[in-house]
Amino acid sequence: DMGGHDTYMHKEISEQPDAVDRVLRGRIDDRFSTVHLGGLNLDAREARSIRRIKILGCGTSYHAGLIGAGLIESMARIPADAEPASEFRYRNPVVDPDTLYIAVSQSGETYDVLAAVQELKRKGARVLGVVNVVGSAIAREADGGMYVHAGPEVCVVSTKCFTNTVVAFALLALHLGRIRDLSVTDGKRIIEGLRRLPGQIEEILKSEDDIKKLAKEYAGAQSMMFIGRVRGYPVALEASLKLKEISYIHAEAYPASELKHGPLALIEPALPTVAIVPDDDLLEKNRAALEEIKARSGRILAVAHQTQEKADHTIVVPKNEDELDPILMGIPLQLLAYHTALAMGRDIDKPRNLAKSVTVE
Ligand code: F6R
Repeated sequence: DMGGHDTYMHKEISEQPDAVDRVLRGRIDDRFSTVHLGGLNLDAREARSIRRIKILGCGTSYHAGLIGAGLIESMARIPADAEPASEFRYRNPVVDPDTLYIAVSQSGETYDVLAAVQELKRKGARVLGVVNVVGSAIAREADGGMYVHAGPEVCVVSTKCFTNTVVAFALLALHLGRIRDLSVTDGKRIIEGLRRLPGQIEEILKSEDDIKKLAKEYAGAQSMMFIGRVRGYPVALEASLKLKEISYIHAEAYPASELKHGPLALIEPALPTVAIVPDDDLLEKNRAALEEIKARSGRILAVAHQTQEKADHTIVVPKNEDELDPILMGIPLQLLAYHTALAMGRDIDKPRNLAKSVTVE
């Protein structure tokens, strides 16, 4: 049942305010400015002894993990990174007892992720799951974890589950942070930011008509570049994947800082760039990248908190706390991919060559 929407993807994009509300519900503890995550099976002493966090997933779940690693590093000050689950498994990684491993999966059935979890458990590691489908193989195999409560996702490409997974990581980062060195004041600031998310997503969804017009303008492109810096880079990666998957337009994502080390050679009027430009400590650096592109006559669509002079178009999104901005900046780009694919007449819910759940290697 598409509930009045033309596609499941559109329905699922539209459901995000409610979905985010669900992942937050019942978990926030205002008294101690923290969150309760009962299923982690990790007491405070164990949480304090974690020396490193390694996040594993595939595709969109890997991208959510990249943002999650950034959230954990900034809030809990635990070194954290994300890696594609299949790469991890085949490079014979050093499995360290002080590292907490986290497997991320919408379906909870992705073979590459499940096999990595099984290999880790065989070596005695502690593995948590950040999973959407309740009772799925990865959820059962993990030592504990959290459900992301996005609800059923039918469209082959992931949207609301991506957003909810990132919010789940923000909760985990806050939880770990408050056990370690995150202050009550910062905890409170993040909680207030989290509570603003559903309303702000609602606001972004209202700009759909404008994004649809922009999509028509970019639908003819042969290829597109997506750039972002630090927190914005995984947003660029995910937006580029979404565009590729459903429109079949070739797209690349680069850290904005890497442009001059190679990809700047591609910039010309026929190759538009989507730039993630949050109003944070890197704003001036990001603006410099826009100037470099403009100097090569590249077209620019910015996703920003204020209109960018150097950009041909800006999608203005509401500002949240710096840490949580990536969650909101991804949403207009889901709509951009959607309307680009729609303008090109693609089968959005079932893109060619892809399956919802990849249970084979
Ligand atoms: C992207 C997409 C895929 C999945 C990936 C992992 O839109 O749908 O990249 O994210 O196959 O799937 P899960 O999260 O079910 O493990």
